Amino acid sequence: MLEFEPPQFQGHAHHLTKETYEEMYKESIASPETFFDKMGKNLLHWHQPFTKVKAGGFHQGDVNWFHDGQLNVSYNCVDRHAIATPNKVAIIYEADEPGRAQKITYAELLRKVCQFANTLKKYHVKKGDRVAIYLPNIPEAAVAMLACARIGAIHSVIFAGFSSDAVRDRILDAECAVVITADQGMRGGKVTHLKKIVDAAIEQCPCVKTCIVFQRTGDKSVPFTPERDVWWHEVVDNQRPVCPPEMMKSEDPLFMLYTSGSTGKPKGVVHTQAGYLLGATMTCKYVFDMHPNDVHGCMADVGWITGHTYIVYGPLSNGVATVIFESVPTYPTPSRYWDLVDTHKVTQFYTAPTAIRALRRLGDKHLEGYKLDSIRVLGSVGEPINPEAWLWYHEVVGRKRCMIVDTYWQTETGSIVVTPIPGVTTTKPGSATKPFFGVELGVLDSQTGQELVGNDVEGVLVIKSPFPSIARTVYDNHKRYMDTYLKPYPGFYFAGDGVKRDKDGYYWIQGRVDDVINVSGHRMSTAEVESALILHPLCGEAAVVGVPDDISGEAIVCFCSVKSGYSDITELQQSLRAQVRQNIGPFATPKRVIIVPDLPKTRSGKIMRRILRKVAAKDVTLEDAKTDAGIREKLGDISTLADQSIVKILIETAAKQ
Ligand code: WT7
Repeated sequence: MLEFEPPQFQGHAHHLTKETYEEMYKESIASPETFFDKMGKNLLHWHQPFTKVKAGGFHQGDVNWFHDGQLNVSYNCVDRHAIATPNKVAIIYEADEPGRAQKITYAELLRKVCQFANTLKKYHVKKGDRVAIYLPNIPEAAVAMLACARIGAIHSVIFAGFSSDAVRDRILDAECAVVITADQGMRGGKVTHLKKIVDAAIEQCPCVKTCIVFQRTGDKSVPFTPERDVWWHEVVDNQRPVCPPEMMKSEDPLFMLYTSGSTGKPKGVVHTQAGYLLGATMTCKYVFDMHPNDVHGCMADVGWITGHTYIVYGPLSNGVATVIFESVPTYPTPSRYWDLVDTHKVTQFYTAPTAIRALRRLGDKHLEGYKLDSIRVLGSVGEPINPEAWLWYHEVVGRKRCMIVDTYWQTETGSIVVTPIPGVTTTKPGSATKPFFGVELGVLDSQTGQELVGNDVEGVLVIKSPFPSIARTVYDNHKRYMDTYLKPYPGFYFAGDGVKRDKDGYYWIQGRVDDVINVSGHRMSTAEVESALILHPLCGEAAVVGVPDDISGEAIVCFCSVKSGYSDITELQQSLRAQVRQNIGPFATPKRVIIVPDLPKTRSGKIMRRILRKVAAKDVTLEDAKTDAGIREKLGDISTLADQSIVKILIETAAKQ
């Protein structure tokens, strides 16, 4: 088994050493009140200091932290640095077009945030109101989020890859009166028609009163409804660049972000002010070993939780420079990341295994001539990283001198929960290693719910006690929060992932144990894709599974039984794929659609996905299908199926299409 000692850099002192880390971790679990009292006071600025650290718990679903304290998140992320170091760079905007980077200092950011906060007030946004943000990965997205935080409005960022149906559902669920968008987006040289998509969505949203439109491309043909739409530059530039921050209670909501679960519609996961900010600030400091002159390069999109925590809130709260990257790793060439790292002297570089695998496949020649010597920490997030990709990241990108942090967390955890620590942790490629401060993990037997103690065990991952940045509720649906996360194993937070704890107590995440598919780090539920397919006039029934994929980790395969009335099967498959794009977004496009006469169902009508998963992954072949014994050997017991003959038909159909 490969193991790597954490590198030590000359002339650079890490925040933690093996000794200080051990001591702090122990205290964070044994006396969380003492530990987080110190962390809360040292890392955040409080308007009204808290006296109570922690209350409530997973049993009742009433977790709360620092509840009698008051602060403002935008003050913490902007003002305190604008006061101390006004000319320091806060945001480096690496636009889609290479060579057009722009820098924004903390003093400038403060003025922009205040002007936008005043704009929101002009359009009647008050504390507690929800604001939808549908923007490209540009500084204005961060400005809009921080402006909401400044006045206590709850932002709901909707990733700019979502379709109009998905945008509509999210706006309606949160009853947003204001939507912020751009005329168009630019990604990898391609135009996306954001305003058109938003228009189609808000046509069906009577709650929307105002749409603020940022001019990203300035295209003249973009639709504009004067009674409802306003141009960002026209209203914002006209506002006073001073806006006193609203004082927020620790447990007031800060934002919501939709994510997919096993069933039904995406849910609006709600994060609160102080606990979330502390999680973001602490993990940046210790996991990325952030120091004042660092340039943090998180390649995510602000539309996902990674962007919220590790582009916007965490780095800015620590007062460092953060990169907002609008493009894709292969535009205009596969050297784009490395060009960005050398140009801006990035010190922490954070991306997803899917990007690492894709770049590895394109070849090492794209890294030749780049120094990459500013990087100290290389991070990975979104899905398990396979050891080959880990080693390539370590050797070819990190030149064997950087700390690799494989960080496990979720939209719901708000910040990193399992991770190596620079200067401290011995890494093993493929393992997210050990829990972060305040995080106590458990491994349960999935059937009995019994906790598996000791090392060398495998089961489902749970978190045993609340830590500050855990989500507090699902927007307007606390029951769903309870049912999804806290009821399955009472007293514990159920993460939805399988896990192994090895002989040394290291954690190896095994992927989802529920019906969630992870495509390039984008989380989708099979139910969500199925509901999209069913909307197609010819689709009778649909079942969706994930199959392993070399680049995207998993890919979507759909099995559809259809009504009569189609002539060309290829056309039908295309239109079913288009249906999913239309309903969810391009990133959810199925890899394959297989038209089948029927789905494999038990006598009680339950679809046996286990069979479909094996058929889709080609784990069972035509050769196996020749005999019952062959089928049984590959698929196990299928005796509970209402009609066993369907299995052979499925294998044959899948092989043909
Ligand atoms: C799911 C959460 C947290 C930001 C990105 C995704 C998977 C995430 C890892 C990792 C193995 C990982 C899990 C998790 N996941 N990071 N380092 N190793 N799996 O956020 O969309 O909420 O998805 O992503 O399955 O449950 P998300």
